[in-house]
Amino acid sequence: MKVLVSDPLSKNGLELLKKNKFEVTEIEPAQLKEEIKKGYDALIVRSGSKVTEDVINNSKGLKVIGRAGVGVDNVDVAAATKKGIVVMNTPGGNTLSTAEHTMALILSLARNIPQAYKSMLEGKWDRKKFKGVELSQKTLGIIGLGRIGTEVAKRAKSFDMKVLVYDPFLSEQHAAKLDVEVSDLNTIFSESDIITVHTPINDETRNLINKDTISKMKKGVRIINCARGGIIDEDALYDALKDGKVAGAALDVYATGEPPADKKLFELGNVVLTPHLGASTAEAQENVALGIAEQIVEYFVNNKIINAVNAPSIDPEVFKLLKPYILLGEKIGKLLSSLVSFGIEDLKITYSGDVADLNVMPVTSAVLKGMFEKVQQEPVNEVNALAIAKERGIKVVESKTTRHEDFATLIDVSVEGKGVKVSVAGSLFAHNADPRIVKINDFRMDMVPSGNVLIVHNSDIPGMIGFLGTVLGENKVNIAGMTVGRHNKGKTAMTVINIDSSVSEKVLGSLKKNKNIIDVKLVKF
Ligand code: NAD
Ligand code: MLT
Repeated sequence: MKVLVSDPLSKNGLELLKKNKFEVTEIEPAQLKEEIKKGYDALIVRSGSKVTEDVINNSKGLKVIGRAGVGVDNVDVAAATKKGIVVMNTPGGNTLSTAEHTMALILSLARNIPQAYKSMLEGKWDRKKFKGVELSQKTLGIIGLGRIGTEVAKRAKSFDMKVLVYDPFLSEQHAAKLDVEVSDLNTIFSESDIITVHTPINDETRNLINKDTISKMKKGVRIINCARGGIIDEDALYDALKDGKVAGAALDVYATGEPPADKKLFELGNVVLTPHLGASTAEAQENVALGIAEQIVEYFVNNKIINAVNAPSIDPEVFKLLKPYILLGEKIGKLLSSLVSFGIEDLKITYSGDVADLNVMPVTSAVLKGMFEKVQQEPVNEVNALAIAKERGIKVVESKTTRHEDFATLIDVSVEGKGVKVSVAGSLFAHNADPRIVKINDFRMDMVPSGNVLIVHNSDIPGMIGFLGTVLGENKVNIAGMTVGRHNKGKTAMTVINIDSSVSEKVLGSLKKNKNIIDVKLVKF
């Protein structure tokens, strides 16, 4: 497996990849667009690389984009999803570092530390100019109480601050545990002495702090952005800092790029600026590098998706339970794609028995993956399988029933289109046992979907098995197993033959010549 790393990644992360036999190439972000054309299985970035649609379309065989950090705003996730590329990040790895950096910025603003330091370097001893304010008993407004917001709240409480929080997805329980006051935006704006934002950047949060919202704030408010550039309208902030409405601002991220193209905030004395240092600690960089390396190893070695932003992450214990069903689902999909020769309009999956107790979404994706793999140019996986079905106009319906009269667990998939219907059902006879196909249309059977399999629809008359055996034997094709399913004696039967090698079109042609053979398909599992 080849991994391209286009931002600095800590040594231990790189070592972990190499230890697991990954070939690692390190480049500069500017080289990404060209280098990715050479073909890599995985790409690891931090925030310096821009993984645009162009980069994604230039890639060959790329399966995973790993973001060593939280924000995936430098990755075109929609373009990646379309190509079936998993985008994963490492949430949590830099939470404490960023929360501590936020506290450092709050304290710097309250006590004018950077300004005082600068003045001392200039030979001054100005104690009056840098008189600060205490945090104790002040009100801190936190917008966005996710991982970082939560850690900031805990730290602010230990400074005896009153903490107001706003987050549309906040549970009362979480707020109660932190002993913070759930609030609305207007209350945060009007009552806070210090306001800090910890949301992602999106249409709702872009310019959340603007001329209008600043006008609602207390005179002398202090504002911090350690989240994403653009949450604060920096022109409005500049004006408010200049006229004293805002006493001070501290920014780690910028609206006009990194480094910021617009430098007018640099002219003001009441601003503290850091060059996107929130996650820049030895611990955080170690966490995110090791985290992303581990996730990539898990993905390629154990097929496990962890922390994907465009595919469901599955708990390892749940994955263990799901894995045999995912395998079975893929086999069913593969078999269906060989049996179907019409445009599919509807696909119905019924889960019965034990499997119905699980979250079957990954199994549904596996059925689609098996079905589309042969007919789709792009790789198909759990990330884009449903999107591809939608794009092809296929209506996917999942249903669950708690029990099936004959099987402890059963996945029954039927596809319909142009008035024709084909169905395949599969089961596991014990957990982790080889998947079995137990029904094709109305024909019951016990088929092992593995290697090369001939599916023969024939008249139910004497001599058919002999005929099949003779033709295969004459062509030196060894039969490994055979199962016959039929509904009514003397009508038609479904003969499924596991063979040790593939057969040529010529052999298939010889079989089809027999007027009692209705159809023959070769399926390669
Ligand atoms: P998170 O997903 O845990 O938390 C984000 C919170 O914002 C969520 O609770 C969400 O409900 C809330 N939210 C979303 N829209 C909102 C809105 N309109 N109003 C109020 N709240 C809203 O993410 P996190 O790990 O806490 O990261 C927070 C931010 O910090 C992200 O933008 C991330 O990219 C950034 N970050 C910056 C650095 C840095 O170096 N400066 C480091 C890590 C993370
Ligand atoms: C993040 O989103 O994780 C931070 O912005 C830190 C980084 O740039 O990696």
